[in-house]
Amino acid sequence: MTKKVSKAVFPVAGLGTRFLPATKSVPKEILPLVDRPLIQYAIDEARAAGIKEFIFVTSRGKSALEDYFDNAPELEKALADGNKTKLMKTLEQTDMDSGAVAYIRQQERLGLGHAVWCARRLIGDEPFAVILPDDIIEAQKPCLQQMVEAYEETGGNMVAAMEVPHERVSSYGILDVDKPSSRTMKVKNMVEKPSEAEAPSNIAVIGRYILTPHVLKNLDRIKKGAGGEVQLTDAIATEIERKGNVHAFRFKGRRFDCGSQSGYLQATVAFGLARPDLREDFLDFLAGVVENEAPVPAAKAANG
Ligand code: G1P
Repeated sequence: MTKKVSKAVFPVAGLGTRFLPATKSVPKEILPLVDRPLIQYAIDEARAAGIKEFIFVTSRGKSALEDYFDNAPELEKALADGNKTKLMKTLEQTDMDSGAVAYIRQQERLGLGHAVWCARRLIGDEPFAVILPDDIIEAQKPCLQQMVEAYEETGGNMVAAMEVPHERVSSYGILDVDKPSSRTMKVKNMVEKPSEAEAPSNIAVIGRYILTPHVLKNLDRIKKGAGGEVQLTDAIATEIERKGNVHAFRFKGRRFDCGSQSGYLQATVAFGLARPDLREDFLDFLAGVVENEAPVPAAKAANG
């Protein structure tokens, strides 16, 4: 029997430089896809997977994130006074049980591995999930839930995986696996951001993990790796040698890299089209754009 995964870590300390100037004063995780911030998607996915404790690793300038999961008495009163029951219902998705959310500061940006390590005391001695909110995954069954089900069979450590174009491998943790065509693959090696020539495959780690607490012990000792940062990939790779218990899980679903402007725009289109109340209008508009390759009015205005 595997131990239940009830805690999830959300590393949200990044500067979001690819979205400046927007992210000068707004945390990247608060940027919306249609009307829900990226972090809401991550939280919903965690909840669907049975997560009960939510640990955010934050940094200076992220107080908007904390406020997002707090009560907003003025707003709630205004909506109640105006009988706006539908909007009040909409706000309910931001409700978190008292004591279920914890915020830990990463004082220095030393890498993803370091960010997760900062949460070690809150995680304690149990398996935990890590969700990178930049990776948005549209799926019938939420990705982490798929993984938790697969993990019940395998135990150990599990990372989400998918193929990426060969010329993009240097942006990812890349896996060497035993049976590349199966859904759950045993990992033989993993390398953070290898060059195309050095990459063992084009199967990449995507931002969902289920990890054993021993990974935190590895992080105590791990040296800086790719990009001069403390890499989570390296701490997981250590478990391959030690225990041979690392699996990669090929999730069903479509992943958007919302850490990049292009991925974020694609996600906006996809999630806009998935909304029954917006779909028809939006589709008409997009069809028109494709047909005429019409310049977007705002861009035209900006160019004078
Ligand atoms: C992180 C991980 C990398 C993983 C990627 C997925 O990289 O370090 O192994 O493949 O997320 O999005 P980052 O995108 O933070 O540079």
